[in-house]
Amino acid sequence: MASNAPIGAFDSGMGGLTVVKELMQQLPGEQIIYYGDTARVPYGDKSKETVAGYARQITGFLVSKGVKAIIVACNTVSALALDDLKSEFDLPIIGVVKPGAKAAAEATRTNRIGVIATRATIGSGIYEDFLHRTNPRIRVFAKACPLFVPLVEEGWIDDEITDLIIHRYLDEITAEGIDSLVLGCTHYPLLKARIQQAVGDGITLVNPAFESSREFKYVLEENGLLNDPSQGATADLSPTFYVSDGAERFRSFAARILGSPLPEENVKLHTFE
Ligand code: DGL
Repeated sequence: MASNAPIGAFDSGMGGLTVVKELMQQLPGEQIIYYGDTARVPYGDKSKETVAGYARQITGFLVSKGVKAIIVACNTVSALALDDLKSEFDLPIIGVVKPGAKAAAEATRTNRIGVIATRATIGSGIYEDFLHRTNPRIRVFAKACPLFVPLVEEGWIDDEITDLIIHRYLDEITAEGIDSLVLGCTHYPLLKARIQQAVGDGITLVNPAFESSREFKYVLEENGLLNDPSQGATADLSPTFYVSDGAERFRSFAARILGSPLPEENVKLHTFE
């Protein structure tokens, strides 16, 4: 596989844009192809079989677009289907959970860590597993926050209703004396400022996107796949987005998150049978 091939990333919807943003900073020489499954979001309340089926379709689609490696920009897919994808597809694929757990284990001073994520991710127990493997003394206080994803998809980010819901979910785990809180769903960093305000400055918010992008860069290097745009003709590295519904809404949301307008031709519709 050529090192100037694009990289792939996907999520159930808009959440993975928090990973795209980080990738664009840490891997400025890579072209990103992103798939947001906006027609089938949320994944977080669905079964492992359903999520794995969707993830398989999207991975196959990204492979058909010629990507050289994939970052699963979704904790739910990373928790439920990463091993299946790795065994079924012959290219480097990483998830966001393991790097996120590593970042949290490094951030904590008191070994009391909160984890918030979708119902499926929390139910899988994967964050506890990775955290306990890193340090058996860590205590994990986990909470599913299923309403956060629709609030983000609706664009209700700076909203008093969102603040009430944040408190409703988080007050019980902040009362446990945690010093770090993992934002274990890629939609949640979009609520970061409001979450920080609700939990107070004494709690460090851990966004797995940073550590995951670092890990992804390392995987590309290790496989000789890191692109060096200084070699050869200057290609257009602007990201391409595919969504399964609402391309126009996605385009304006993505422009807000990424901080620059996206040309219409860079956001396309692609649906599965
Ligand atoms: N953003 C995804 C995650 O990281 C999925 C959210 C959802 O679709 O429920 O878990």
